[in-house]
Amino acid sequence: MKVAVLGAAGGIGQALSLLLKTQLPAGTELALYDVAPVVPGVAVDLSHIPTDVKVTGHGKEDLATALKGSDIVMIPAGVPRKPGMDRADLFNVNAGVVKTLAEGIVENCPKAHTCIITNPVNTTVAIAAEVFKKAGTYDPQRLFGVTTLDVIRAETFVAELKDLNPADITVPVIGGHSGTTILPLLSQVEGVTFSDEEIEKLTHRIQNAGTEVVEAKAGGGSATLSMGQAAARFCLSLVNAMNGEAVIEYAYVDGKGEHARFFAQPVRLGANGVEEVLPYGDLSDFEEKALNDMLDTLKGDIAKGEEFING
Ligand code: NAD
Ligand code: LMR
Repeated sequence: MKVAVLGAAGGIGQALSLLLKTQLPAGTELALYDVAPVVPGVAVDLSHIPTDVKVTGHGKEDLATALKGSDIVMIPAGVPRKPGMDRADLFNVNAGVVKTLAEGIVENCPKAHTCIITNPVNTTVAIAAEVFKKAGTYDPQRLFGVTTLDVIRAETFVAELKDLNPADITVPVIGGHSGTTILPLLSQVEGVTFSDEEIEKLTHRIQNAGTEVVEAKAGGGSATLSMGQAAARFCLSLVNAMNGEAVIEYAYVDGKGEHARFFAQPVRLGANGVEEVLPYGDLSDFEEKALNDMLDTLKGDIAKGEEFING
């Protein structure tokens, strides 16, 4: 098994790479790629941790070597938000970054599972899909927008509010990964009830949790440590699935869904990526309205990515 992290020298990249170095199964290769000159040093640093995971570092000109033979590619490369910006404001820089990296995947590991963290996720996943489609390598089962951070935040905030252990809470989060397209299904949280006011406030907090971090970091970037944890969880779930375990995660995938081409929803992962897109159950009236209200935004975000590649 080989896992590549593209953007490995960044805030998310370093946190994710540390967690993967310590948690990937023995014998796995971990290839770190970044355009920042520090990346070989990050690899040397991690290589001193005594686990049976071999870490290699790859600089700007070395994308092909990093990607060759990769089974999973994690992509946190690109610029993060500053206060006052929306995720969509990152499009101008990050669309090109994701296009270039997706082209590298086409050339070097077209069968890899590609997991996109780079914002705006609603759009960058569509960019990667269109690059793969143009090259004839697109497999919707193997392309993911990583929305795990929305799930772990929702679970944390519910646990905080109800004074429970977050490990005991499961919160489905569907839709996309920005603002109102993030839709937590609080009506489905088992063993917990909420007042209407709590539902409104919690939904708003989950939808704006990224901004909460951006503002708290005051110009120093966005979520990196919680995202590193979320991305590691998703990557390890994929590894377990490829090793024969049936694993369920929420992810933004091309599920040929009724709502939009890409939609974050529960999926059963297996050896070939998405083995089954699962139903997300009944929605409350509040959630149904929120879903209908967000769809134009989500579809617009997706179209922007498709147009970036196809003109
Ligand atoms: P960062 O600036 O700390 O790190 C980004 C890294 O990407 C840098 O090391 C940079 O050198 C590298 N990079 C830039 N262009 C590259 C290229 N063409 N090839 C390879 N590497 C390249 O940023 P960060 O905080 O790690 O955030 C990275 C991205 O993840 C941002 O777009 C951010 O918005 C996004 N993000 C997504 C989620 C999510 O839930 N999906 C959560 C948090 C952040
Ligand atoms: C997040 O949800 O924390 C990320 O998408 C980063 C951001 O810009 O909010």
